[in-house]
Amino acid sequence: MRAEQNELLTRIGPGTPCGAVLRQYWHPVALLEEFDPALHPEMAERPLKTVRVLGEDLVLFKDASGAWGLLGRACPHRGADLSFGRLDPADEGGGLRCPFHGWKFGPNGQCLDTPAEPVGSRLCERVRQVSYPVQAHGGVLMAWLGPQDASPPPVPALDCFRAPASHRFAFKGLWNANWLQAFEVGIDPAHTSYLHRFLFDEDLGAIGSNAAGKQFRSASAGEVEGERWPMTRIMREFGKPDIRMTPTPYGLQLQTLRQISAERTHVRVTHGLFPATFVIPLSETVTITQYHMPVDDHHTYWYSLFTSFDQPLDVASMRAQRMKFTQMPDYRPTSGRHDRWRYNPQEQRTQTYLGMGEEDINVHDQWAVESMGPIQDRSREHLGTTDKAIMANRRVLLQAIDDVQNGKPAPGLAQTEVAQAASGPDTFDGIGPQNGWESWWQDSARDKRARAAWLLGGATTDMHETTETHASPASEVTATTGGAT
Ligand code: FES
Ligand SMILES: [Fe+2]
Repeated sequence: MRAEQNELLTRIGPGTPCGAVLRQYWHPVALLEEFDPALHPEMAERPLKTVRVLGEDLVLFKDASGAWGLLGRACPHRGADLSFGRLDPADEGGGLRCPFHGWKFGPNGQCLDTPAEPVGSRLCERVRQVSYPVQAHGGVLMAWLGPQDASPPPVPALDCFRAPASHRFAFKGLWNANWLQAFEVGIDPAHTSYLHRFLFDEDLGAIGSNAAGKQFRSASAGEVEGERWPMTRIMREFGKPDIRMTPTPYGLQLQTLRQISAERTHVRVTHGLFPATFVIPLSETVTITQYHMPVDDHHTYWYSLFTSFDQPLDVASMRAQRMKFTQMPDYRPTSGRHDRWRYNPQEQRTQTYLGMGEEDINVHDQWAVESMGPIQDRSREHLGTTDKAIMANRRVLLQAIDDVQNGKPAPGLAQTEVAQAASGPDTFDGIGPQNGWESWWQDSARDKRARAAWLLGGATTDMHETTETHASPASEVTATTGGAT
């Protein structure tokens, strides 16, 4: 790839061609748990935090009416920092006031009061702060940073947003690197056989239902000669995957085959949702949907949404497991470039392929993403056959940049009809027949959905309750924070 193309694909700040594409999609901007006073005590005093999204500094807050606001951080009067603002109580009409001269803004950015101006002043009617719609779904606050006068497509009714609080868990982490290299890890099915290789399997009896949600430790679906195999064994022993791609309305479906014997093949089905989300299996019954939210050109938050199609998730275990490696309040990993990601050559020789621990697999991907540098120099890479999804995605992104620059719509979930029709998507990890693996995995996925109580009606979170773009029901916050503690 030419250096100019690499610049084009990676620079995402305001006014950039790629930023203009990414602003057509919903992105996660915070976990709902970040507003839970039980986890973040400062939220009891004032539910407001600063966020940086696509190179833009913003304040995210819940006003006294329960509506979410996402506003530009610099006050439109004379530019003071609204993150020091006062949240007016409900009996004063809610809203956020700049402490410099008291100008007040509603969650939709409208200026509501300019108290120092003369009586009868109508100045505030003409002032509107930059504001973006926010909606709560699946334990995550999603925002759309498109043009101020445009309306967003709906948030797609993906499984991760439909599951009730009991069957979902969301967490996030900060990586010091560009968004595209973060996403490109997730659509690279070959790396799991190397980067995440464990030289020893965990006893499947001991891992049980895998309450902490450890990636690759669960069993694959299906059997080899009557025996269940952990995913780690398959990844380790079969390192030359045959990767197939099928375009979908919102991205790519990947089918990765690892032939076990003449009769048996391992099938792993994952998805890339353009522009920056992947969906992968954790186990037979749990799926991970991972968004990559570009903070700016050099920083990215991953947001992982775990969705169970079977038992409720053990949210406390999942959170505790991840908190061991996470610093609050920014969800920053405890290790990184400063401690060489805790690389241990002895472990690399005897336990793992990488040497950065077995408990937290996120650090493996973090190393892959951050060790390339803040923006990978793609003019020096040499792509192989197994990088085909990465190449396909870059072609779609280049085309999308060109289209948006020429006034055409961005593809996939940026389009209302595609977002309205989106569902699932189904993931799979299992060992099945060499002949007929396609119908076998699809039947298995259908069975999994048929058994999911919350898909049968009744317990579902009706995400389309949240149609008002600047607000979301307080009930969703209650449900999620209850589960997150
Ligand atoms: S700078 Fe914010 S009210 Fe004056
Ligand atoms: Fe990975």
